[in-house]
Amino acid sequence: MLNIVLFGPPGAGKGTQSDLIVEKFKLIHISTGDLLRAEISKQTNLGKQAQDIINKGLLMPDSIMIDMIQNKITEHIGCKGFIFDGFPRTTVQAEALDSLLRQNNMEISTMISLEVDTPIIVERILKRGAISGRSDDKNETIILQRISEYNHKTAPVKEFYKKCNKLTEIQGVGTIQEIFSKIEKVCSTFV
Ligand code: AP5
Ligand code: MG
Repeated sequence: MLNIVLFGPPGAGKGTQSDLIVEKFKLIHISTGDLLRAEISKQTNLGKQAQDIINKGLLMPDSIMIDMIQNKITEHIGCKGFIFDGFPRTTVQAEALDSLLRQNNMEISTMISLEVDTPIIVERILKRGAISGRSDDKNETIILQRISEYNHKTAPVKEFYKKCNKLTEIQGVGTIQEIFSKIEKVCSTFV
């Protein structure tokens, strides 16, 4: 089984690379950001809460995100593997994922961390914001807040996987295909 945590700051290319990994390795892609945006478009209670938090560039509460992941894993038991995109985003989430997977006799193969410097990600997100409907992409203050949440609460998750010898850092700058080639090589060692 191949279970990947695809990690990196906002705009690092997690969603872009997930699509290519799914195509090649036939994994189930779980993007917590996409799941939250689906709730927002349905205007559920969860969606209303998410809209407020996402628009401030802050993180959702751990308990909500862990329940969401638990449901998704249960739904797809027996699949070839998962790509976790945008989860875990805190050490509490990483510990919960570890135990959820263990309960189902699974484990993370590796975390792939896409390394991209701040000025490049701000530029990428602003460019997308001009054409996408994402409310958290439009304004530089919110983008910088998202990056600050990443630096304070999410970046430490790398240490969690490093301690378990499950951290693979990849330069997330270059063409989409160049970056995918590096990811593909790493993934191929697990299948
Ligand atoms: P989420 O949707 O996960 O957003 P994010 O992490 O901020 O990242 P993005 O989706 O913006 O970027 P990406 O890394 O996927 O890059 P992409 O491929 O799109 O989360 C949104 C919000 O939901 C969070 O802020 C939080 O509030 C909440 N949330 C979600 N999960 C949570 C959790 N677990 N706990 C708590 N809260 C949670 O690429 C970006 C752009 O760059 C695109 O336009 C793309 O075309 C372009 N691009 C990609 N690769 C390249 C390249 N190599 N060269 C040039 N351009 C490129
Ligand atoms: Mg994304």
